[in-house]
Amino acid sequence: MQRPHPLVLTNARLATMADPVSGPGAIVVEDGLVTWVGAQTDLPAAHARAEQHDMQGRLITPAFVDCHTHLVHGGHRAREFEMRLEGASYEAIAREGGGIMSTVIATRTASEDQLVNTALPRLDALLAEGVSCVEVKSGYGLDHDTELTMLRVARRLASLRPVRIRNSFLGAHAVPKWAEADSYIDEICIPALRAAHAQGLVDAVDGFCENIAFTPAQIARVFTVAQELGLPVKLHAEQLSHMGGTALAARFRALSADHVEYATDADVRALAAAGTVAVLLPGAFYALRETQVPPVEAFRAHGVPMALATDCNPGSSPLTSLLLAMNLACTLFRLTPDEALRGVTLQAARALGLRDTGAIAPGLRADLAVWDVETPAELAYRIAFNPLYLRIFGGQPC
Ligand code: NIG
Ligand code: FE
Repeated sequence: MQRPHPLVLTNARLATMADPVSGPGAIVVEDGLVTWVGAQTDLPAAHARAEQHDMQGRLITPAFVDCHTHLVHGGHRAREFEMRLEGASYEAIAREGGGIMSTVIATRTASEDQLVNTALPRLDALLAEGVSCVEVKSGYGLDHDTELTMLRVARRLASLRPVRIRNSFLGAHAVPKWAEADSYIDEICIPALRAAHAQGLVDAVDGFCENIAFTPAQIARVFTVAQELGLPVKLHAEQLSHMGGTALAARFRALSADHVEYATDADVRALAAAGTVAVLLPGAFYALRETQVPPVEAFRAHGVPMALATDCNPGSSPLTSLLLAMNLACTLFRLTPDEALRGVTLQAARALGLRDTGAIAPGLRADLAVWDVETPAELAYRIAFNPLYLRIFGGQPC
C-alpha cells in the first residue's frame, strides 16, 4: 500500500513544549503523527525534497486542549448574572434552588438533538482558537437517564467535528433539591456511573466537593467505585471554601484537582507527591468576582503542574475562549505567558491522562495550531483577539 505524502511544514517558529528548537523550524507529519521536528537546516534530505508548506515565520504550538468543560447543557443563566450584579452570591442562588439545579431542569427538558445543537456553537468557538481536544462533563442530569444522555451527546460531538472528546462522569455535581445527599450518591449517582461505564461512555470520574455540594466522604464512595471500574478520577476541589477535596484527590491519585483557590500548603505537597495536576479556572474566578487566588507560587515551588481550562458552563464560567483564559490566568493569577501556554497544551493533556498530544515531538499526534504572531507571549497578551491561522487535527489541516 502506498503511504500518503508527508506534510512538511517549514519556516516556522516552534513552541514545542518538548525539545526547544531555535531559528526557523520544520515539522514532518506522516499518517497523522509528527515523525520529525527540528531546525530547518537539519531537515533530513528525503523530506527536504518533498513538497513543503512555507509557514512564513508563523508560530506553531501544539493544538490546545480544554481539559475542564461543562459544554453540554440546556438553557442559560443570564438572569443569575443579573442577580449576582444586584448583590446575590453564587452560593445563595444555589441554595435557593437556582444555580446548577436550574440548568438541571433545562437539560432534562431538552432533547438529545437540542443538546447537540446548542453545544456545537460553543465547541466551534473553541475549535476556532486551535483546540483539538475537549473534556466534557455530565452533571446536569442528576438522574440515571439524563446523565447518560449528556455523555452520549458528548460522544456525538466527536462524530460531527474534527475534535477529540474526553467524557467525565460528574453525577456528584449537586444534590437534587428533592433528594438527600447520601441516598442520592448510593441510589442514583453510583448506579448511573456503573451503567454509563458499561456503555463505554466514561473516560474519567469527577465530583464537586463543596459546602453546597458533596463532602469528601461522599465523593470517596464514588471514587472507590471509579477505582473498581479502572477509571481515573478528578475533582472540583477547594473552589469556594476549604473542604479537604484536594487531599482526597491526592489520596486517589487523581489526574487533576480543579479550581483549588483555597488549597493549603499541605494540599499542594499532597498534589506534588501524587503527581496530580492543578487545573486553574480563571473564568470562574473572574465571573464570580472571587478574591482568593490559587497558591500559584506554592505550585511552582513544589513542582505541581498547572493546567488551564475554560470551565465552560452556564453559571460560574460562561466562557468559550482558552486564549482569554490564558490572559485571565496571567493577569489575575500571575502566571507567566509561558506557563499559560503550557497550561493549555502539555499540562492540560496531562490533566486528561493523555500522553500522545499536547506537545510537538516525534511519535505524538500531529495536533497543531499555527498562529499569526511573532512570539508565544502574544497569545496570552491580547484580549479577545484570535490570531489562529490554521488548525491541524491528527495531521489534517481543518
Ligand atoms: O466548575 N463548580 C461546580 N461546577 C461548575 C459550575 C457549574 C454551574 O454553576 O452550573 C464549576 O464552576
Ligand atoms: Fe467545573
